[in-house]
Amino acid sequence: MRLDRYLNVQDFQRAAERRVPRMFYDYADSGSYNETTYRANSSDFARILLEQRIGVDVSVRSLGTTMLGRPVSLPLGLAPTGAAGMQSADGEIKAARAAEKFGIPFTLSTVSICSIEDVAAATSTPFWFQLYVRKDRDFNNRLIDRARAAGCAAIVVTMDCQLYGQRHKDVRNGLTVPLKFTPRFLAGLALKPRWALSMLRTPRRTFGNFAGHVPAARTPAALAAWMADQDDLSLTWADLGWIKDRFGGPLVVKGVLHPDDARTAVAHGADAIIVSNHGGRQLDGAPSTIRALPRIVDAVGGTCEIYLDSGVRSGQDMLRAVALGARAVFIGRPFLYALGVGGEAGVTRLLDIIRAEADSALGLMGETDITALSPRHVTTDADLN
Ligand code: FNR
Repeated sequence: MRLDRYLNVQDFQRAAERRVPRMFYDYADSGSYNETTYRANSSDFARILLEQRIGVDVSVRSLGTTMLGRPVSLPLGLAPTGAAGMQSADGEIKAARAAEKFGIPFTLSTVSICSIEDVAAATSTPFWFQLYVRKDRDFNNRLIDRARAAGCAAIVVTMDCQLYGQRHKDVRNGLTVPLKFTPRFLAGLALKPRWALSMLRTPRRTFGNFAGHVPAARTPAALAAWMADQDDLSLTWADLGWIKDRFGGPLVVKGVLHPDDARTAVAHGADAIIVSNHGGRQLDGAPSTIRALPRIVDAVGGTCEIYLDSGVRSGQDMLRAVALGARAVFIGRPFLYALGVGGEAGVTRLLDIIRAEADSALGLMGETDITALSPRHVTTDADLN
């Protein structure tokens, strides 16, 4: 496959739509309800203008920084995404390997296809683990213990997902757990023979962190029924304490959009927060993250690391967020599209593209060190009116 033909995230997205079965492509490329927040996440990035500066020696440039005390080659991570192993066979392993090559964190979702142990066996640097707290506390404890035993470098607790925002495309496509092999679904697979063959070749086609780890559910149907009843709507700040104690490493709180929540997360032991609206998949009508970021930086900047996800589509977007106070950004859909197109090599190519975009933009902004960026390096188009 000629991956050098892919020049930006949009190229990968268009190709993923052709290669990945409709049901799974749509699962990635959708937001909740009317998708207003989903759209605003990227359109608000475009309103932030980068200051072009000249007359500076930019022969030596650096994108490196640290995240939770570990060096990273650029301020970027791969966000936790459920069922990434459905975009490409063994998708989580492939994405984790690509991230490892770049020295940036890969975050494994609780609802991944490859298990914690699968990813640990296939990589040699620590990845991050994202926890969806389940009602069954023993199960949570075992999951946290497994992440610790695998050497995960951080635990990311996602707090914006107690109730689910509906994605209309998933309803229309009949996406369910477990999958129903309807004639329409099977016909869709027949149109994507390469994808179907690679899926047949891997044993990993179900939720790897659950299958075989729930004593009460021994069959796929029993497991699906158990999982469906496990969303813990009673999750509060008070739960962060036992999670952090049990894990014994850095705690990252994901889903912060309000400055007061940022302060509360820090008060409950968060070492970092992710300013996130779940990629516009949860509260439709919530602000874009790049719009929410400055108030959060005012509230907790300097007391914890602040990351941002949702809508990052280029190296330039990464610079916009860093200038406004994010230490690093995470990407979700962009790497899923790259995975669907080219597996590990696809994600590697995507990361190369983002790195090159950021490197060139940094120099054209007259800066040589990404950690020197500050709000004076950007302006919003609203300021110009
Ligand atoms: C997600 N996201 C997510 N978040 C999380 O904490 N656990 C999860 O299992 C998932 N699953 C998931 C699946 C898919 C298909 C998508 C697109 C997203 C949210 C994810 O971590 C991140 O917040 C967004 O993807 C960021 O937005 P962009 O980069 O996709 O615009």
